[in-house]
Amino acid sequence: MRAGGPRTSEPDSIEWDRPAGIAGLGLVADELVIDDTHRISWYLQQVEDSRDGIIRRTNLTRKDKREMLLEGKKGLIIGVANKHSIAWAIAEAAMREGARLAFNYQNDRLRENVASLVAGLDGACLFPCDVSSDDEIESFMKSVEAEFGTIDFLVHSVAFAPREELAGEFVATTRQGFATALDISAYSLVALSRAALPLMPNGGSIVTLTYLGAERVVPHYNVMGVAKAALESSVRYLANDLGPRGIRVNAVSAGPIRTLAARGVSGITKMVDAHRQIAPLRKATEQAEVGDTSVFLLSSMSRGITGEVIYVDDGYHILGALAPV
Ligand SMILES: NC(=O)c1ccc[n+]([C@@H]2O[C@H](COP(=O)([O-])OP(=O)(O)OC[C@H]3O[C@@H](n4cnc5c(N)ncnc54)[C@H](O)[C@@H]3O)[C@@H](O)[C@H]2O)c1
Repeated sequence: MRAGGPRTSEPDSIEWDRPAGIAGLGLVADELVIDDTHRISWYLQQVEDSRDGIIRRTNLTRKDKREMLLEGKKGLIIGVANKHSIAWAIAEAAMREGARLAFNYQNDRLRENVASLVAGLDGACLFPCDVSSDDEIESFMKSVEAEFGTIDFLVHSVAFAPREELAGEFVATTRQGFATALDISAYSLVALSRAALPLMPNGGSIVTLTYLGAERVVPHYNVMGVAKAALESSVRYLANDLGPRGIRVNAVSAGPIRTLAARGVSGITKMVDAHRQIAPLRKATEQAEVGDTSVFLLSSMSRGITGEVIYVDDGYHILGALAPV
């Protein structure tokens, strides 16, 4: 048995170490290939034919291939800024499961970063899209349609509030800061979902990212908490509208992770440290964990789930008392 990285295709041959001199025809060895998530990808057998004195290693027989969860599916990943982005972890998990992906970049400042990440992905494409602009959303969807025809899923991993709104007291929130946070962090899910509808004639799955600050007061999260509450409510209304068209809409509520967006929230480092000490699983939430749960929601494994918020936060949200007693 050996550990290996994720594989997207079956190998034709494999080098095999064996003592020389085994004669005849027969199975000499087998191997379980385990991927990064510790699931069996392939069960490989090697058969050797040495009847005429020449050892030939031939035909690895695939015994059992785990089906990839998103094999043959195409989807949109909105919200990669860099390799630490939650959207990037979702993209990596979706690629591992066989999906073909289209990405956006918010503006020219982020283009190079995202382009260099996407460059290594098979069949992926990249177009600009600032989600505060209906025109950009429309031309993004047109470009995707020209490239992909139809899509099967949409990942919305976008949020923004002016930095000054994410420190101090919520009562100081400005009218403009409130409008901006709600527009980019919540309304954009509605706008993107509507624009994606013509590309999803066969149904599909939409996933967005939220945070506990939607329901509980988290220091400094302020107007972003209000925006996440609007986002979670939008998930339920969209799920009800789009369910009859076979489209499911869900949110993943992630624990605090130090990303570009999170660095805008005053005290994020302390929040991650406290999370590690207090959460039932006694660790910090990792992007890859959010990626795997998102893939579950994008795949048919979750076909009975819509309008839901699933927590990937090491159990933090179940706690009542946060201070030691
Ligand atoms: N990091 C955390 O602790 C955490 C926890 C729970 C939920 N989330 C949510 O996860 C999502 C992704 O955030 P992240 O932590 O990966 O940070 P990130 O900074 O990597 O991603 C945020 C993305 O939003 C994009 N964005 C902002 N304004 C935009 C606009 N006008 N048009 C297009 N794109 C825009 C940015 O370009 C960036 O790619 C957000 O919704 C965030 O609220 C994050």
